[in-house]
Order: sequence, then structure tokens, then C-alpha cells
Amino acid sequence: MDLKGRHFLTLKDFTPDEIRYFLDLSAALKEKKKSGADLTHLLRGKNVALIFEKTSTRTRCAFEVAAHDLGMGTTYLDPSGSQIGKKESIADTANVLGRMFDGIEYRGFGQSIVEELAENAGVPVWNGLTNEYHPTQMLADMLTAREYFGELKGLKFVYMGDARYNMGNSLMIVCAKLGLHFTACAPKKYFPEGGLVAQCEAWAKESGGSVTLEEDVMKATKGADIVYTDVWVSMGEPDEMWTERIADLTPYKVTMDVMNNASEKAIFQHCLPAFHDLKTKIGKEKGEQFGFEDMEVTDEVFQKYAKPVFDEAENRMHTIKAVMAATLGVELETL
Ligand code: CP
Ligand code: NVA
Repeated sequence: MDLKGRHFLTLKDFTPDEIRYFLDLSAALKEKKKSGADLTHLLRGKNVALIFEKTSTRTRCAFEVAAHDLGMGTTYLDPSGSQIGKKESIADTANVLGRMFDGIEYRGFGQSIVEELAENAGVPVWNGLTNEYHPTQMLADMLTAREYFGELKGLKFVYMGDARYNMGNSLMIVCAKLGLHFTACAPKKYFPEGGLVAQCEAWAKESGGSVTLEEDVMKATKGADIVYTDVWVSMGEPDEMWTERIADLTPYKVTMDVMNNASEKAIFQHCLPAFHDLKTKIGKEKGEQFGFEDMEVTDEVFQKYAKPVFDEAENRMHTIKAVMAATLGVELETL
């Protein structure tokens, strides 16, 4: 499997075998990390730029730790500390960074921005989240599912909430490619866009998976293996969205009733950060304003399934390491 030089912008661009290769490489790198192996020789002397136009805890830390574990240097460009988009175009930025760095991570707004960066950089560009897609998150989610269930094919995966944004879109793509049965459980207006659904249905047909759009919570989650949710208002969306989202999506909160309707072995997953209590500034503010104690998931569910949720957060690092390693020329066989 030769992925050297490839960009990592959306999993639409990768075959099921290539995605499985990323997962195998991630698992091997995780094992090495756990055994204390030093892998700094693999990419020593290389440097990566990490551009974040939106905030991050997991993705930034995962890229930094993973790069350092592989011997690379990192430069972090924060949401306010560079010229990008304000005084310098994306194409010019890509040209400059491509001359200094061996790879570039970008987290920001439209997918077209990361695509433009990739077209002009001359080095691999990795999407660390855009409005439309969150592909590195997908590898962590699938690695975690594989760790809990062994086999991905045939698993029943239900995503609840705003299914037409980065998480809903990306999960539908990866499930369709890897043969899972994906259900988007949401009010109709939050269903993923028709063209993408059709594309995913075609991939699902080949992989033995399926794509379902379902408004009824109990129908959707019956016998589910994985119940997944995400925040109701994403980074960069206007504050005014909260009122409408809370009204529309409260019936789609992940509660114990939902989990009890799922399979006996079901796990709950969340890309994080999550509003499961009022211990955050925004959570407290919105809780007081709208009169609730949690949002997309109850604290009871979150605490009960904390182990798989945080396993998945850890897997961000192992999978991001695999993405950088593979696209910078490290092969699984050489580990
Ligand atoms: N899941 C995720 O991308 O987390 P961060 O926003 O903290 O990077
Ligand atoms: N949909 C969320 C995902 C965060 C990891 C957002 O874009 O803010």
C-alpha cells in the first residue's frame, strides 16, 4: 500500500482497503507506543505545520504528540496568530508553508479552503476538521469500534443529531465504505444532503453495508451496536442557532432509554467535546438560559460509557500518527 504524498482531505478519496490499511497501521503504532518503543528515527528531521482557524484540544494535541513520537518538529499556527485569509491568500500561504514544511494540517471552515491549500502546497495536507468533513476523527472512531467488536462489517451504527454537518457526513461515508449499517437519526431537515447520501448508498451496496435516514428514535436505535452523537451547534455557527437547535434536537438526546433500546453490547460514542453536564462555560450559560442540565447526551449515559468514549479520544493520536506516517512514506511492514 503506497500512500506516500497523498493528501488526506476526506475519506471519499480513499478505497476501503486504504482505509483498512490506515486502521492496521494505527493499531500497530498504538502497540509500539504501549510497549515503549522509540520511533523517532522514522521521520526525524521532518517538520509539520499545524494550522488551526478553529479551536481544538484533541486534534492539536494528537498531531503534536504523534509528530514528536515520529521524530518530527511542529509549528502551531493559532486562530489569530497568522496572516492566513486576512492578509495572505490560501494559495500564497500554501506556497510558503510547502517550502518550509513536509506536511500541513488545516482545521477551519469550508472544505474548499483545505482543497485549495492542498492544490498549492506541494506536500501532503491533512484535514483536521472543516464544516463538511472530519476525516481523522473517522479513523479513531473505526479503530475504537474494531477494538470493541472485532469486525466492522455488519455493525449497526446510529448517529443522532445534526447529521448534515462534518460528523454526520463523515460517519456516513466511512460506514458506507467499510460495510457498516449506518442510520442518521434526526428530524428531516437535519438529514445529510441527497447527493452525498446517493454516493454513500452506492458504496454501501459494494461493501455490504446500508444507509438509512430515520426520524423515529426508537425505530432507529433498536438493536444498535454504536450510538453516536455530537454537539448541536458546531464551531463557527452563529450563537442564534441555539434556540432552534435545542427545540429541534432535544427529542434526539441520547438517554438511557435510547441505550436500553440498543443492543446489549452497545457502546456510546462522541467525538468530544460534549455537553453532558453544566461544568463548562457554554453548558452552564445555555443550561440556565433554556432550563436543562445536559444537552446531546445525559450525564448518566456519558458516565456509564466513559471508557469507550475516552478510548476513542486516545485513538485520535494513534490514528493521526498513522495518517502522517503513511503519507510521509512510512510503511506498515517496516515498523
Ligand atoms: N474531536 C475533536 O476534534 O476534538 P477537538 O475539537 O478538541 O480537536
Ligand atoms: N461538529 C463539531 C465537531 C467537533 C469535533 C464541530 O464542528 O464543532
